[in-house]
Amino acid sequence: MREPILYEFENYRYAQGRDLVIEEPETHPLFAGETLDAMLAELRTRLRQDREQFNPALLQGPVADGIRAFTGEWFQRIDFPEFGISTTSDRAWAMFDEGGVNTLGRHLTSEEACLLRPWPKWLYLRQLLPDLRGKSAMEVGSANGFFPFRFAEQGATRVTGVDVQKRKHESAVWANRILGWKNVEFVNTDFLVDFTIPAHDVVFVSELINHTLCPMWAVTRLLSLARETLIIDTGVFESQLHAMELSTGWNRGSGAAQMLSYQISDGLLVSFLKVLGVRTAEIVKYVESGAGHILYLIDTRGVHARRASGDLAEVPVNQRRSVMQQLAFPN
Ligand SMILES: C[S@@+](CC[C@H](N)C(=O)[O-])C[C@H]1O[C@@H](n2cnc3c(N)ncnc32)[C@H](O)[C@@H]1O
Repeated sequence: MREPILYEFENYRYAQGRDLVIEEPETHPLFAGETLDAMLAELRTRLRQDREQFNPALLQGPVADGIRAFTGEWFQRIDFPEFGISTTSDRAWAMFDEGGVNTLGRHLTSEEACLLRPWPKWLYLRQLLPDLRGKSAMEVGSANGFFPFRFAEQGATRVTGVDVQKRKHESAVWANRILGWKNVEFVNTDFLVDFTIPAHDVVFVSELINHTLCPMWAVTRLLSLARETLIIDTGVFESQLHAMELSTGWNRGSGAAQMLSYQISDGLLVSFLKVLGVRTAEIVKYVESGAGHILYLIDTRGVHARRASGDLAEVPVNQRRSVMQQLAFPN
């Protein structure tokens, strides 16, 4: 990788592979110390209750049958407390992998993380969220609907969950039929190309941008969709260098492409936000140290106000027309 360089010419400065002014946003640990201990205690209580309250009879009946119909689609645990059942009550319904950030820095095993997912993530997120009472909130890449249901519980007046996968979307719609949230709506679409999605006060994305066709475009869109706060919870690598690496996953049998994943550096993501007109002081980072995972809490009010008043001094000249395009559907 090339070393970043700052060139100084007579009336021109050129920052190659780095920001012109390297300033770190305000940074905190994502979870640590007593907070982490309390989170782990809460999660272990939940796992213990799962074991102690397990009743095989609950795996029969219409709710169990509904969950079973989406076997293979439950990336997230959705609880139906009224029926004493969740989408991980039967191991065969759930998805098991390494568990990622839901292991909370490997304090939980992969199995525990997958049985709970994404409750571990929610326990750190709920402490960082703005007050959702009276606000509209949206999750893009909402899978089975876990976070939209939490946002409704937190008092958001209108909640939208967007997901491109039809069966994931249908599982969330089905879950909401059981849970009965009237102010939660799920939309089956691709947010990269669908300009009918309206802006919301708070927009949350988790494990999304680095799996999109074009992550920088994803960030551009998300910024337009978030009127007040954009929360990007994502894998990145901790480096001030500007770097991006593409990986692809393939089915060994059929040879079919399964997935793509970009690893973006923290430095590139922060610098790109600045290209879009976000100031460093409007970004707060919560870092899972050494794990390549950062949550970015971005106050988007300033960038929208500056764009509305025509103050685009922080956006490069050739990009001004692009950023001024209306990328969110008017409400
Ligand atoms: C890895 S899952 C993460 C689910 C959830 N955000 C979480 O953290 O538990 C990513 C989700 O984003 C959805 N997704 C990926 N690209 C999308 C796109 N372009 N538009 C809408 N949803 C998308 C996928 O279908 C999948 O359900």
